[in-house]
Amino acid sequence: MKANPIIVALDVEDAMQAREIVDRLEGSVDFYKVGMELYAGEGMTFVRELLDRGKRVFLDLKLYDIGETVRRAVVRIAKSDVTFLTVHGSGAVMRAAAEGRRSSKLQLLGVTVLTSFDEQDLKDLGYPCSPGELVALRALNAMAAGLDGAICSALDVSAVREIMGASAVLVCPGVRSRLAESGDQKRVATPAEAVAGGADYVVVGRQVTRAKDPAAEVDRILGELGI
Ligand code: C5P
Repeated sequence: MKANPIIVALDVEDAMQAREIVDRLEGSVDFYKVGMELYAGEGMTFVRELLDRGKRVFLDLKLYDIGETVRRAVVRIAKSDVTFLTVHGSGAVMRAAAEGRRSSKLQLLGVTVLTSFDEQDLKDLGYPCSPGELVALRALNAMAAGLDGAICSALDVSAVREIMGASAVLVCPGVRSRLAESGDQKRVATPAEAVAGGADYVVVGRQVTRAKDPAAEVDRILGELGI
């Protein structure tokens, strides 16, 4: 049987709400993403609670600062048993993070390009290239900096896999099942498309956390993945 690739994003404001989701997913999911909102409210105390419950944690802090600050933050996080930490895909930030991680088990993932960015957003930042070109450049730089993998859109994952190779850890957020009843016309990749493209993990948030029955929603996705 294939391993469960689902990471559930705990995008809620406090530990009580997060605990309720984790309780309801007991036995279905053991990997959780803690992002800025929950981290701002509860910090490492709740991260440690998840770890003590035997859950794996993806700490999605998307660090971006001067090298010394990033390095020191990563040193602290590397002392916990967090599995994944995100840093932005700029060369100096990624190299500082790799230095801070040293020989710990913490795996560092580079954010290629935020999926909300289009060519105009990149132009506003002064980047004279398309999102696809920047994704490719950052994937190369992430490998050169010694990162373990990348966060990328399901639409870019096969290109990133080709660049970073089989051993890279690739995680795709922004996926959801194509629910007939949602009436959502937007082009959103499904978890199955992300995995078929080469993703090791998919991050699913609201589709699971806001469902009446979160565990049933996880089962639906696992079914779509043939697991
Ligand atoms: O949309 P959903 O609730 O599934 O989002 C889950 C997580 O994926 C969020 O925490 C968000 O930070 C991330 N996400 C992303 N890029 C997108 C959509 C969501 O990084 N396009």
